Amino acid sequence: MLHSLLALAQQPRIAPTEGDFWFPPQASSFAGKLDADYYFIYWVSAFFVFVIAGVLVLFTLKYHTKKHPKAERTSTHNTPLELAWSILPGIVLLYMFVLGFEGFTDLRTPPSNAVNVDVTAQKWAWTFTYPNGVVHDELHVEKDQPVQLTLASVDVIHSFWVAAFRTKMDAVPGRYTKLWFTPTMTGEFWAQCTEYCGTNHSMMRAKVVVHEPGELAKWLAVEGDPHGGGRTPAQAGEKIYKIQGCAACHTLDGSKLTGPSFKGLFGREEQLVDGSTVAADENYIRESILNPQAKIVSGYGPPSTMPTFQGRLKEDDIAALIAFLRTVK
Ligand code: CUA
Repeated sequence: MLHSLLALAQQPRIAPTEGDFWFPPQASSFAGKLDADYYFIYWVSAFFVFVIAGVLVLFTLKYHTKKHPKAERTSTHNTPLELAWSILPGIVLLYMFVLGFEGFTDLRTPPSNAVNVDVTAQKWAWTFTYPNGVVHDELHVEKDQPVQLTLASVDVIHSFWVAAFRTKMDAVPGRYTKLWFTPTMTGEFWAQCTEYCGTNHSMMRAKVVVHEPGELAKWLAVEGDPHGGGRTPAQAGEKIYKIQGCAACHTLDGSKLTGPSFKGLFGREEQLVDGSTVAADENYIRESILNPQAKIVSGYGPPSTMPTFQGRLKEDDIAALIAFLRTVK
């Protein structure tokens, strides 16, 4: 019995390209082992639930008071039995510990050839900064290339989870945390925030794209630079609006999220929380991006929940955003 369970644990139960009833596809190097560990513990638990519940039902019927009006005398001691039911489950539990410890050290030890991508979490968007400086709202990586993510948060605790890679890590304000994986499958997957972080927690997702080896550089060259690819300033601004996570709080269609909608914003008179008004011109927009607490629109604070983009957006990025906002009528 134990032998066949051990054999089960060594064997990935599903083909690496497809998900099963419980799991999404196994898209990282350690997904197969982790799933096998999971199923080992699952089946051991299922087996013992069955045995224990089965014996319970059996004894209830067998020793029912109608058949046995007089209580049986309990045997006081049985050394072989007690040794057996202590040592055998002990070995199984020790084996589970070894599986867990192996998995834990593996998941916490990035290989030295891992490519680092910085991940910034904020309510309610993920931003990825690539080694060449490109900033984007999608995580793009290459098949078979180990990737290390260095996570940071600008506000509250978030958690970065890619189910298909079987790994996750908290993003904690004031400290860096790390996570790594080696994708083994090309395709598109989802990263999801798994630490409740407020109103739009459930919407805090990011697309994860695994390219064929050698294809990532092409994507970074074309998609990575919002100002490149022959884009006009307004088109570059639209891209930055998407990449930098602005869309998490500011809609383009007039509906209200955490921040005012950008629809028709440019040139509008804004009512502020202190009772004064301001014209939404270039200077107001620039100031609001760099110092969101300076002029808070009535109904959205104080304080404003927007993080500052000082140091995260360059002058040409802000100019492009302003050019984009002029077009959002
Ligand atoms: Cu971020 Cu939940």
